[in-house]
Amino acid sequence: MEYRTLGRTGLKVSVVGLGTMVHAGHFGPMNDAESLSAIDAALEVGVNFIDTSDAYGAGYSEALLGKALKGRRDKVILATKGGNIMVGPNKGQTDFSASYIDRVMVESLKRLQTDWLDLYQLHNPNAEVIERGEVWELLARRKREGKIRYYGVSINKMEEGVAAVRGGRSDTVQVEYNMLVQEPAQELLPLAQKAEVGIIARVPLRRGLLTGKMTADDQKHFKADDVRARNFAGELFAKELAKVELLRFVVKGPVRSLAQAAIAFCFAHPAVSVAIPGARNAGQMRENAAAADIRLPLADLRRVEELWRGGFRSSFNT
Ligand SMILES: NC(=O)c1ccc[n+]([C@@H]2O[C@H](COP(=O)([O-])OP(=O)(O)OC[C@H]3O[C@@H](n4cnc5c(N)ncnc54)[C@H](OP(=O)(O)O)[C@@H]3O)[C@@H](O)[C@H]2O)c1
Repeated sequence: MEYRTLGRTGLKVSVVGLGTMVHAGHFGPMNDAESLSAIDAALEVGVNFIDTSDAYGAGYSEALLGKALKGRRDKVILATKGGNIMVGPNKGQTDFSASYIDRVMVESLKRLQTDWLDLYQLHNPNAEVIERGEVWELLARRKREGKIRYYGVSINKMEEGVAAVRGGRSDTVQVEYNMLVQEPAQELLPLAQKAEVGIIARVPLRRGLLTGKMTADDQKHFKADDVRARNFAGELFAKELAKVELLRFVVKGPVRSLAQAAIAFCFAHPAVSVAIPGARNAGQMRENAAAADIRLPLADLRRVEELWRGGFRSSFNT
């Protein structure tokens, strides 16, 4: 496993991490034994960065991680998020007020069975929160007290990431970055690298598309509460599948699978410290972690960028 410094936090993170959204059943039914096997495998192969959120299964993923990490909490750099309301009358809305974040942070700590969080991320705040939110004072206070070591944002729009870097308060930015979504490489990643803001590349497999295993038929299996149901359907899905076919050329020599190439693509950018593919079981985790050994040839990286410039630009946000 290769380790990189996560921006100015100085944390040494594995270039391949683990995203735990899948463990809360957002990609179809899960069972805890499988999820736990993915977490065990991660630690066995040297993965030390795990990302979660209180939004995943309304706390389910955090609670499972809390159980899984009992007795070995210090082996991982644990990142969670808050700001999305998952229960009660305001379900579906966001709240980045200091009082709300303060409350849900305590709840996350309890579910994760830990006294400290290595990274606390605001979960998709808008530019106004990033630029003027009172929540930053709270985060600074909780950092001084040792409840959180560092804090940052997970963002959707490029301008939000740029605002986070320019604002100077965010230690990290988590953003979707993959072979099909290369917008971050245009401005955000170089800016973050210069400012020593750590970049966490999320959705590196474009929710499984970039494993190359999907076919048009798969849309039949995506039930309404599956995150893939909305976009992985009809013409939109057919277009994405056609793009994936054009990327298969990267699988050759030491690159044994498109999934590994897709993960390696993320950390081929020097601004990226860690890519966080989801892994539903130990097998996926091991395959993803092995991507750490892959260095894609420069010519292939250039071709992937050309394809993106020539029409890959993504037609939807995950
Ligand atoms: N707004 C935010 O902050 C936000 C949003 C999205 C994600 N995230 C974070 O980013 C993480 C990763 O994103 P993601 O889970 O949405 O998407 P992803 O990592 O691109 O895709 C994960 C899915 O791909 C499939 N997969 C993974 N490894 C595989 C392998 N080796 N072979 C075959 N299939 C494989 C699995 O689904 P199947 O087995 O069902 O195919 C898995 O659930 C999340 O877990 C979360 O931590 C954050």
